[in-house]
Amino acid sequence: MVPVLIKDLLSSKPEGQQVKVCGWVRSVRDSKGLVFIQVNDGSCFSNIQLTFDRNNPSNNANVNNIEETLKKLNTGASVRAIGALIESPASGQAVEVTLENIECLGTCSPEEYPLQKNKMSMEYLRENAHLRARTNTFGAVYRVRNQMAFAVHSFFQERGFQYMNAPEITCSDCEGAGEMFQVTTLSLEKIAEMGVKAGIGGMKVEDAHKIVDYSKDFFGKKASLTVSGQLEAETMATALSRVYTFGPTFRAENSNTPRHLAEFWMIEPEMAFYDLDDNMDIQEDFVKYLLNWALTKCQEDLAFFDKRIQPGLIESLKAVANAKFTRISYTDAIAILEKDAAEGKVKFEYKPFWGCDIATEHERYLTEKVFNGPVMVYNYPKEIKAFYMKLNEDGKTVKAVDVLVPGIGELIGGSEREENYEVLLERIKSLGLEPKDYDWYLDLRRFGTVPHSGFGLGFERLIRYVTGMENIRDVIPFPRAPKLADF
Ligand code: 4AD
Ligand code: MG
Repeated sequence: MVPVLIKDLLSSKPEGQQVKVCGWVRSVRDSKGLVFIQVNDGSCFSNIQLTFDRNNPSNNANVNNIEETLKKLNTGASVRAIGALIESPASGQAVEVTLENIECLGTCSPEEYPLQKNKMSMEYLRENAHLRARTNTFGAVYRVRNQMAFAVHSFFQERGFQYMNAPEITCSDCEGAGEMFQVTTLSLEKIAEMGVKAGIGGMKVEDAHKIVDYSKDFFGKKASLTVSGQLEAETMATALSRVYTFGPTFRAENSNTPRHLAEFWMIEPEMAFYDLDDNMDIQEDFVKYLLNWALTKCQEDLAFFDKRIQPGLIESLKAVANAKFTRISYTDAIAILEKDAAEGKVKFEYKPFWGCDIATEHERYLTEKVFNGPVMVYNYPKEIKAFYMKLNEDGKTVKAVDVLVPGIGELIGGSEREENYEVLLERIKSLGLEPKDYDWYLDLRRFGTVPHSGFGLGFERLIRYVTGMENIRDVIPFPRAPKLADF
């Protein structure tokens, strides 16, 4: 018989029925003949309390066995218990289980167990990422993450979007930022050896690449892990109308920040026949849907984050779920930043000017100080955005949009795509990209081209936002970042 999950037990009617519970001991208290064991199985935040009254054990209790097991129980030990589910006579929990029998499945030495009772730092828990899911904080983070993944599918499925998988290995750099992890079966040692044989001393550095023969590599050309599934999503959207990807993406940017990961999950919807305004509308709906989902389905976990991680979290999520997102052009946003900096209202490390990339400090100033809520900045200078974005009539800006939220900065990046073959080709050439690398992408504009739009939402940024966790490395089970690939 499989055990009942603790979340289901806690919402069952306590009628003295026999139940089987399995999980990990959080604490054992033994006082005046009364024993209380708190057990958690990760199905919800709360523990179930198992009780054993030495002076008045239940008729069915296997007293000897229970006493033997109790000697072995410490925090972290795994147990299987049988007992009666009753209404709890004490405050603190609605129901509890009167023990009839309990087995210790695995002991846990208190001297050696890395999870101690005293408060552990996030850094320490990161080093123990294989065990941190057993803490209150990380159990809650991972449950919220699970709910948010479900919400993503639910949102798009309700709206006729079809889920697709983009390849993880690719030969195109979607964002053109050169931040890709190379995928190769060529041996670096072998190449170095060839270099030595070729006489590195006499060789020019710029000729070094000639030693590498990609035709001998696994894919016959230089391949990498994808930074985005967008280009492939566009091929699908121009056939299936509305699609979305939800998968891992990789960026070899050397950013040691609380908002960047080398491996992160991204949700990338792509919609045929949507313009920039339609794109902004659905982005706003999407973010609100996700927040409402968390507020209704993750109440117990959010209450914990609100109390222990970020006071005021629930109120601020509710406010955003009901707010109208501010929409402002890049040009107007820069004007505000320049004016406020000039008037001494704010000091920036990087001086804002028309044409600059909006830095995190600018993003956060806009969303936290100027508008005090989510902001959508659109129509960026073409020079600072990727090649695929639709050129505006001014010839200077592109139909890009970023969604900025308080505490996080950029949550979403998206755009209307350039659907005109000539204009796109010109953009590819002017950025120094090789048109033949994009011939399949250009084909979409040659054969039945349509206006279309899409965006990418960073899943871990969303989880950070919803939980109030400070560091993005603490919202994914096993974070990958510069010099960090443990487990
Ligand atoms: O703005 P980005 O680079 O846009 C794209 O990749 C487009 N191809 C998306 C599209 O239009 N289909 O990335 C999108 C989002 C960012 O807004 C951010 O939330 C997240 O991905 N992101 C990261 N999250 C964690 N770590 C990183 N290193 C991230 N880089 C981007
Ligand atoms: Mg971006």
